[in-house]
Amino acid sequence: MRLLKLSALLVAAGVALWSAGSQAAEGAAEPKQISWPHDGFFGTFDRAALQRGFKVYQEVCHACHAAKYLTFRSLADLGFNEDEVKALAAAYTVTDGPDENGEMFERPARPSDTMPSPFPNPQAARAANGGAYPPDLSLMSKARHDGDNYVFSLLTGYDDPPAGEELAPGQYYNHYFPGHRIGMPPPLMPDQITYDDGTPATVDQMASDVTQFLAWAAEPKMEERKQTGIKVMLFLIVLTVLLYLYKRKVWADVH
Ligand code: HEC
Repeated sequence: MRLLKLSALLVAAGVALWSAGSQAAEGAAEPKQISWPHDGFFGTFDRAALQRGFKVYQEVCHACHAAKYLTFRSLADLGFNEDEVKALAAAYTVTDGPDENGEMFERPARPSDTMPSPFPNPQAARAANGGAYPPDLSLMSKARHDGDNYVFSLLTGYDDPPAGEELAPGQYYNHYFPGHRIGMPPPLMPDQITYDDGTPATVDQMASDVTQFLAWAAEPKMEERKQTGIKVMLFLIVLTVLLYLYKRKVWADVH
């Protein structure tokens, strides 16, 4: 019995050591800590940044990454009016059908459509990216630990590999990616896009804007959630005061 317990302990210790080792090998730098306008209890999204971030997503990231939960209609939330949303949607083509002959057909996207994927299937996405799969970005900010800071750090975290480290073809060195070898080429170059509001398109600016856009995409109702939280807190405070006064009144005559 004792022996059994001892060997179980040894196995547990071995597993712990082994996983600590593999974590260290996988190590990635802690993401840069940025203070985002939408952070905290009262934080709200910066609409101008979201619109710029959407442009970065459209013109850069969407070449490889889908955002299958993003409907064009929801872009009204970024401050686009109805006609602008229609025009944004109509720039994309979606497959619809079948029609009365049983054929699928293509048509311009409508506000009720979701953003079409850049690739027809995951195999095509991998084939175009040297075997690496560009994941869907709709929920990326929530899917990674410290998501906003991670996405920003990843986009600005490319570097030459340390001396003596060889990269396979199609691999790039990134301080923040687990294992440091990522199959995504550095996506952002200075002045790669032209912002409609004249903001200079530095790499940090584009990375910050697209990070904020992805934070919104992953939780478009965040502001409502926070507002509900604030209302509930106010309600509870008022209720507490009223109950206290009521208690004082009830006990006032008791000596
Ligand atoms: C040329 C194609 C390409 C472009 C353009 C591109 N990516 Fe990627 N991205 C990839 C590939 C491929 C991967 C998977 C990398 C891997 O697993 O090694 C990836 C992975 C990612 C990841 C996930 C990292 C993780 O933790 O798994 C994020 C986040 C990301 N990209 C964000 C972006 C953003 C934001 C943009 C636009 C600024 C962008 N990408 C542009 C190809 C691309």
